[in-house]
Amino acid sequence: MNFIIAVDGPAASGKGTVASVLARHYGFPYLDTGLLYRAVGVASAGNLSEAAKLAARLDPASLDNPAYRTRQAGELASQVAASPEVRDALLDFQRRFAANPAGAVLDGRDIGTVIAPGAQAKLFVTASTGVRAERRWLQLLNQGERVTKEAVFADIVARDNRDSHRSAAPLVRAKDAALLDTSEMTIDHAFREALRLVELARSAPQGR
Ligand code: C5P
Repeated sequence: MNFIIAVDGPAASGKGTVASVLARHYGFPYLDTGLLYRAVGVASAGNLSEAAKLAARLDPASLDNPAYRTRQAGELASQVAASPEVRDALLDFQRRFAANPAGAVLDGRDIGTVIAPGAQAKLFVTASTGVRAERRWLQLLNQGERVTKEAVFADIVARDNRDSHRSAAPLVRAKDAALLDTSEMTIDHAFREALRLVELARSAPQGR
C-alpha cells in the first residue's frame, strides 16, 4: 500500500505550508486541492451549472496561476465547492494523484474523510481565527491586494461557516486525524510537530 499523507483544515491554518514541506521531506508529489476549486470558481465566475462542466474538463497542468491565489478566487472556490456535481467531477483526479505508487501528500478539506479515507497519516491543521486572518491578510498584502484586516477576518469566518455546514463533504476532522494547532508555532515548529505525528502514524499498526 502506498503512503498517503492527508492534510485537512480551514483556510490559512498553515496546512499548505505543512503539507508542502512534508512532501519535500518524503520526496512525494504534493497536491493543493484548494487550487482545483479555485480554478473552477474563477473559470465559472461562481455559476454552478457552468462550474460542474468546467470541473469535468479541468486541466490540472494549468493550476499554477497567481489569479487563483486572490481573495476573490478563494470566495468563488468556496461557493462552487458546495456543489456535489463539482466535487464529483474532481474526485477521480484527486484519487489518481493519491494512488502514486510511492506515496503522496494532499491538502484540502475532505482528504482524510472522502478522497483518501484509508490514508495512513492524517493531520487536521488548525489555528485561531484571529491568527488565520492575520496570516491571510499579510499574504494578500504581499500579493499586492489592498484589503483591511477586518474584511479578511470576515471572509475567513464566512468561509469556515460555509465549508463546515455544506452537505457535500463538509470540513470536519476525520476521527483518526491528529490535531495540529499552529496558532503559536513558527513554520519550522509546525513542520517538526507534523513530522512527529506522521511518523507516529507510520509506525502504528495498520487497520487502526
Ligand atoms: O484551501 P483553499 O483556501 O485554497 O480552498 C479554497 C476553497 O475550496 C475552500 O474554502 C473550500 O470551500 C474549497 N475546498 C474544498 N475541498 C477541498 C479543498 C478546497 O471544498 N479539498
